[in-house]
Amino acid sequence: MTDPLSRRSFLGTAAAVAAAPSLDARFPAPAVIRSSQARYAAVASANGIRGVTKAVELMTQGADTLDAGVEGVKIQELDPEDMSVGYGGLPNEEGVVQLDASCMHGPSRRAGAVACLEGIKTPSEVARLVLKYTNHILLVGAGAKRFALSYGFKEEDLLTPRSREAWLRWRANRGRDDDWVDVPAGQPIGPRPTGTINLNTINAKGEISSVTTTSGLAWKIPGRSGDSPIVGAGQYTDNTIGAAGSTGLGEANIMACGGFLTVEHMRQGMKPTDAALATLKRVLAMAPPRLVDERGRPRFQLEFYALNKAGEFGSASFFPSKYAAHDGREGRILDTAPLFPR
Ligand code: GLY
Repeated sequence: MTDPLSRRSFLGTAAAVAAAPSLDARFPAPAVIRSSQARYAAVASANGIRGVTKAVELMTQGADTLDAGVEGVKIQELDPEDMSVGYGGLPNEEGVVQLDASCMHGPSRRAGAVACLEGIKTPSEVARLVLKYTNHILLVGAGAKRFALSYGFKEEDLLTPRSREAWLRWRANRGRDDDWVDVPAGQPIGPRPTGTINLNTINAKGEISSVTTTSGLAWKIPGRSGDSPIVGAGQYTDNTIGAAGSTGLGEANIMACGGFLTVEHMRQGMKPTDAALATLKRVLAMAPPRLVDERGRPRFQLEFYALNKAGEFGSASFFPSKYAAHDGREGRILDTAPLFPR
């Protein structure tokens, strides 16, 4: 049996699509990747490569699309080495890890979210509880924590030695006028890290879900929430159309309601990658001038991941990046379609 996603056929598809008319002259149309059997597919940020595999495995065993997605992102939430999500995520400026997550379940048209949740390793599970057991959609801060504890979640210290060390270095080197002794040269604090995981799933019945979870922008002002817990920004699902979600600078995405907008672009007939590219253009058009350079390029990165009702999936980003996808046969790391070269 031929593999419809073999390198040769994939490159062939890419070449055929490249020859098709562009979205416009500046942003050529990218490849569209179709799930091999138009069923059981998952698409995620690159750190979701284990997650998409887990999610598809669970769906093929009969798991619901949202449950499968949550189990997929939990791998990162519980992984202390992923400093962008859950346990081990980088903290706010006071050294406290505050987590955000949201999810949508297409078949039941329900959503749940938590923001600024402290002390709980898996905010995606708490967001799913909000979805399942309340008439609300978003719980924040202390209320979100009490809600989680009432369901038996254990309160834990989410800082790992590594994330605490990164925060201490940032605090010590914050500015020339602070009262902390600088960390010696040779231990650079590096760029301000961001990170998140978004994961979208579809099963053989065409049921679709999405989930996004993050520790948000490192060193953020306490109480800051990004796009991840905002339904319609960090993720969105319409079971009749598809799902989409994001990673990157949340503030820019919130301004364009990027998850929702990407699904709306698919509703208008765009393929997932084209839909994500169109959303990036809107984000850029809405971005405040201080976030745009003199050449009209964003000073930040943002990625969208999308899948449609046919099981087609894709991803686009401002600058070249990677994403994870599973077509029902295998999970792979793929290149996003960039709006700008690096
Ligand atoms: N996209 C994650 C955040 O900005 O918090």
